Amino acid sequence: MKIARFSRIGFILAAAGSAVGLGNIWKFPYMTGENGGGAFVLIYLLTITVIGLSLFIAEVLLGKAARNDSVTTFETLAPKNGHLWKYAGFIIFAGTLILSFYLIVIGWIIKYVYISATSLPTAVKEAGATFGGMVTTDVVGQFIFFNVAFFITIFIVTRGIKQGIEKVNLILMPLLIIILLALFFYATTLSGFSQALSFLFVPDWSKVTNTTVLQAVGHAFFTLSLGMGTIMAYSASLSNDTNIVRASISVAVIDTAIALIAGIVIFSFIFTGGAEAAGGPGLVFISLPPIFAEFGSLGNLFSVAFFVALGFAGITSAVSLIEPTVLYMTNRFNLSRARSLVYLGGVTYVLGTMALLSNIEEYKSYVTFGGKGFFDILDFTSSSIMLPFGGIIIAVFVGHVLQRERVYSLLKEYMSDRVFALWYFTIKYIIPIAVSAVMINKIFF
Ligand code: PFF
Repeated sequence: MKIARFSRIGFILAAAGSAVGLGNIWKFPYMTGENGGGAFVLIYLLTITVIGLSLFIAEVLLGKAARNDSVTTFETLAPKNGHLWKYAGFIIFAGTLILSFYLIVIGWIIKYVYISATSLPTAVKEAGATFGGMVTTDVVGQFIFFNVAFFITIFIVTRGIKQGIEKVNLILMPLLIIILLALFFYATTLSGFSQALSFLFVPDWSKVTNTTVLQAVGHAFFTLSLGMGTIMAYSASLSNDTNIVRASISVAVIDTAIALIAGIVIFSFIFTGGAEAAGGPGLVFISLPPIFAEFGSLGNLFSVAFFVALGFAGITSAVSLIEPTVLYMTNRFNLSRARSLVYLGGVTYVLGTMALLSNIEEYKSYVTFGGKGFFDILDFTSSSIMLPFGGIIIAVFVGHVLQRERVYSLLKEYMSDRVFALWYFTIKYIIPIAVSAVMINKIFF
């Protein structure tokens, strides 16, 4: 099968588009807020550099070596037992689970673009009621916005790698960066700016517990889109002249820079308005709007810009959550993209609807299992179990199953022998051991 090729910049933007998402602008700031700031940021940066970047390079390498869907990739690259290793390729199905709740959050964001343009809540209490009311009672509204997010995503993926994914990323990624930078420059003029900087960059080690470390590791997977074959699928379309190490570093740097810029912007507004840093998952939906409201109609503009940027970031990640499974279905079952998307979309639609209902007071009892709502089950199973598990599988495959010579020959053009030895050691030992520790701790404690 012939797989379309990205342009060199197209690949970097698409991979960065996948990495930069709700994880950066919504999750990273609230996790930082809840974990006391600077120390968490430092541990997260270290994790991204050691574990995240190494695994990213491993995924790119597999994608480029096989240029196929992930099931075929494991099957054909394994020197022996390919018929068993092919099952490792099923890590792609984590994407369907993530997408189901991710689209609900993108739906909220689209609704907040509308709220930002019309009537921003002016007090935190009112903002809490607006957000809480939407999530726990507004079935129809949420369902409509979930559908909007759903159809935008499906439409883009139907158009394929070049005409859909590359094009959308070429437009939306620069726009996202422009909007964030504009907000950033404005944030530098706010009184809370320096407080935001010291909150994010001066570590207070007394705030660090082992949970802080574990959360930072888990988030490194999510934020770099690792452990479910997304980067592998995009790398199947890599152009031959791409320097895979440099491209991986670029994506990790863009992803980290955007998380930090988003953090600075959000905390500058939070501290200027005197709101609580540890605002939890509602941070951008509850703490920010009333602060924007204080700036009058300029505030409406900022708020629209902020949520539009967040929506762009979400959409470019959403398409990357579904592309690996589309590639698998078109490749292995000879289906058209449209038909694959009908099946995958159907599953996402059902799971997404169940997740949405699990937050609604009236219906939650029907979609709560073992005391946990379906939305939380999807989030927990995919982010805390499937992605780290997928990361371990990839590291074991590259470090222990593929011959070292083979791996070396794929990378030697792009790294010195010393760097290769370091990278190989990380893949072979550090990642399987460290990530297993994270998973065991998350599941059992
Ligand atoms: N990296 C995305 C974010 O930070 O929001 C989420 C994500 C996308 C995770 C694609 C995994 C993935 F394969």
